[in-house]
Amino acid sequence: MEARRHVALKESIRSIPDYPKPGIVFRDITTLLSDPRAFRRAVDALVHPFAGGRIDQVAGIEARGFILGGAVAHQLSSGFVPVRKKGKLPHKTVSIAYTLEYGTDELEIHVDAIKPGDRVLLVDDLIATGGTATAAVNLLRQIGAEVVAACFVIDLPEIGGAQKLRDLGVQVRTLMEFE
Ligand code: PRP
Ligand code: ADE
Repeated sequence: MEARRHVALKESIRSIPDYPKPGIVFRDITTLLSDPRAFRRAVDALVHPFAGGRIDQVAGIEARGFILGGAVAHQLSSGFVPVRKKGKLPHKTVSIAYTLEYGTDELEIHVDAIKPGDRVLLVDDLIATGGTATAAVNLLRQIGAEVVAACFVIDLPEIGGAQKLRDLGVQVRTLMEFE
């Protein structure tokens, strides 16, 4: 049952060759988000392992992690904390540079975004190199979070990011894999 559900979910994702650079196959979740059943199934599947446990805050990574993370936080009755690209947050931040499958960037979080010891679930749409998620975990830990787990709709296992995150001691959940 579980596997069949995820096959339907996988079919809702659009693949765009050579975007944003030649050689990258971009996995576009906008087609999942605009399909009401697929969106609900994805959010339900992300929430499932954590329902009934204590998650104080869901941290979502800009931009696609905001959409999924907001829905996950609502279902878990948790707070939501944005992990943003540089220069977008108005209050005092901590920041960290990181590398992507197709470039480099910098992430920030408000210094007072969580209370020390808060149990945090990190949410994003996709993990590739793990550079973004690793940076987010490091930021969250710097401000005192206990990062309980990280969850993603899509894993690109050949690139190895999910394993890198597990090596940092973070439980990783993903709904499907693409090459
Ligand atoms: C994408 C994706 C993840 C990240 C994964 O975001 O939504 O956040 O890349 O890549 P990684 O595992 O190699 O770090 P992107 O940086 O393209 O930003 P966007 O959501 O603002 O488009
Ligand atoms: N982020 C990093 N790699 C990606 C890919 N192949 N598709 C969509 N988002 C990504």
